[in-house]
Amino acid sequence: MSALFSPLEVGSLELANRIVIAPMCQYSADDGCMTDWHVIHLGHLALSGAALLTIEATSVTPEGRITYGDTGLWSDENEEAMARVLATVRRWSPMPIAIQLGHAGRKASTEKPWLGGKQIAPGQPNGWQTVAPSPLAFDATDNPPQELDSVGLERIRQAFANAAERAARLDLAAVQLHGAHGYLLHQFLSPLSNSRTDEYGGSLKNRMRFPLEIFEAVRAVLPAERPVTMRVSATDWVQGGWDIDQTIEFARALEARGCAAIHVSSGGLDPRQQIPVGPSYQVPLARAVKRAVDIPVIAVGLITDFEQAEAIVGTGDADVVALARGMLYDPRWPWHAAAELGGRVSAPPQYLRSQPGRFRDLFEAGE
Ligand SMILES: Cc1cc2nc3c(=O)[nH]c(=O)nc-3n(C[C@H](O)[C@H](O)[C@H](O)COP(=O)(O)O)c2cc1C
Repeated sequence: MSALFSPLEVGSLELANRIVIAPMCQYSADDGCMTDWHVIHLGHLALSGAALLTIEATSVTPEGRITYGDTGLWSDENEEAMARVLATVRRWSPMPIAIQLGHAGRKASTEKPWLGGKQIAPGQPNGWQTVAPSPLAFDATDNPPQELDSVGLERIRQAFANAAERAARLDLAAVQLHGAHGYLLHQFLSPLSNSRTDEYGGSLKNRMRFPLEIFEAVRAVLPAERPVTMRVSATDWVQGGWDIDQTIEFARALEARGCAAIHVSSGGLDPRQQIPVGPSYQVPLARAVKRAVDIPVIAVGLITDFEQAEAIVGTGDADVVALARGMLYDPRWPWHAAAELGGRVSAPPQYLRSQPGRFRDLFEAGE
């Protein structure tokens, strides 16, 4: 019996196996509204046999977008556009769909990656003034962010809650909060980006305060059985920055507040980061978090081989693996993994005849 192809319940969410599709920005929205690209992109990933599809980092306010092409959930127009995409995808796939809600803070207002990805200064086309815990730029050449005051903090708390209400109306299966990769919540956590002297800066307790408030605000507006999870960067990979010990404290504080799972990524906060990139490079971080909490832990980062994924779940390093680039490269990765490991996957009835003769039990017919 394959561990990777065993089911798992997370709140009301039933995962058919332990493979989830990590959130991936597509930079292809208009004013935060999903487009036909999202039908194509999410549509084909929804046929992959993974247990869960996570919609890309979706901003709760216009200025929280990484680029002008990011998806958003701050307006009725955004919600309607997402509803249209979801209706099409759901018509043809039973795969549960979650969403990642986030705010880019000082890393907002940039060009699309394939156009260079540089920050766009306020006043330039597609650029705006960024906000952050402290007026410290990500890159020395960037326009510094504006420090958030109490009114700004309240506006963002409310924006997260409003977007979560929209996510509930869209019947999304779970909400993942983006606390990783150097975006706003991570900027509060890390002493390298947070130099505040009020109750949101200084001690670990103070630096965790705003992200925990956001978690509570989102948790409060969703039905109890609807999971809310957090994606974290477990370390900044910079001396004196956010690290695994602080991540463990954060994970415990989240668990105590009803967080349903912790998704363990790393880095993204500081250009000085030294990341030991290689297969499974973030798995030791996931394992450390898993030892400290009882809720499911998700590992991500260069998990590309079937046996590698099976071992991560089978040995208990993590409960679930997330794939990003590997799913874009091979959207049928879960099918191939199931064939290799003796598991079964849901496949659309239109494709059942593609089941190779030597894998007679591979496909379960979807709806
Ligand atoms: C095109 C692309 C877009 C991404 N967008 C997001 C995002 O919206 N939110 C996020 O948390 N991570 C994002 N990531 C990071 C991935 O979710 C993932 O953590 C990372 O790529 C490592 O996993 P992998 O080795 O399986 O690709 C993105 C990665 C890629 C390649």
